[in-house]
Amino acid sequence: ENDILSTLSLRGKKVLITAGPTYEAIDPVRFIGNHSSGKMGFEIAKEAANLGAEVFLISGPSNEKINHSLVHRIDVISAEDMYQAAHKYFDTVDIAILSAAVADYKPKNVATQKIKKTDASLTIELAPTKDILASLGKIKNQQFLVGFALETENEFENAKAKLQRKNLDMIVLNSLQDKGAGFATNTNKITIIDKNLNSTDFDLKSKTAVAKDIITKIIQKLDA
Ligand code: CTP
Ligand code: CA
Repeated sequence: ENDILSTLSLRGKKVLITAGPTYEAIDPVRFIGNHSSGKMGFEIAKEAANLGAEVFLISGPSNEKINHSLVHRIDVISAEDMYQAAHKYFDTVDIAILSAAVADYKPKNVATQKIKKTDASLTIELAPTKDILASLGKIKNQQFLVGFALETENEFENAKAKLQRKNLDMIVLNSLQDKGAGFATNTNKITIIDKNLNSTDFDLKSKTAVAKDIITKIIQKLDA
């Protein structure tokens, strides 16, 4: 079906979205994190809900706000928390869009007391976090699974490799080479690659407009 009405609706669909950074504790007062604002994921959540979807928005620490009767916000802190929450909802959803900037590493041991300074240098050993997106790619059934790729070099090749390695239906390549695209900005420049490796380039636009492009592309693929 490709008529206008079906093209513009997500009514009756459930959508899981991850957003924001994760914080990995070093000790009771410190963490390893990143500059992700969460804005891209929140905009996608708003757009999906505006089209009638019930949205489960799993967010790391973010100052973004959302107030929509169809959006259930689940706040998490660490990559492990986000992994658990994503797996809790994944079975029930039709679409999962993983836009979070999940920390790739966490301190191997979390100090139970605040680490005191000394004159010596300090080394913190890191261990990998679980890859949430890859884990969902392994267990997916009918779900349409969408990932992001944040790249600074060999963008297209790296994004394609992620799409295939993580068993995705679509990947959104986030171009950091463009000024005005990325973490701290309100704009983004994306390329969408589908699982047949067809790609579509989009202009630099507001994250609100980028969210519309992403959701529209997903609906087109679902209807195809
Ligand atoms: N992702 C995830 N869980 C992680 C790491 C990443 O779910 N522990 C997801 C992100 O939300 C994104 C996709 O995987 O949708 C790609 O994230 P990215 O950081 O670009 O790629 P990585 O696979 O982590 O590889 P690298 O950082 O080395 O490029
Ligand atoms: Ca990463």
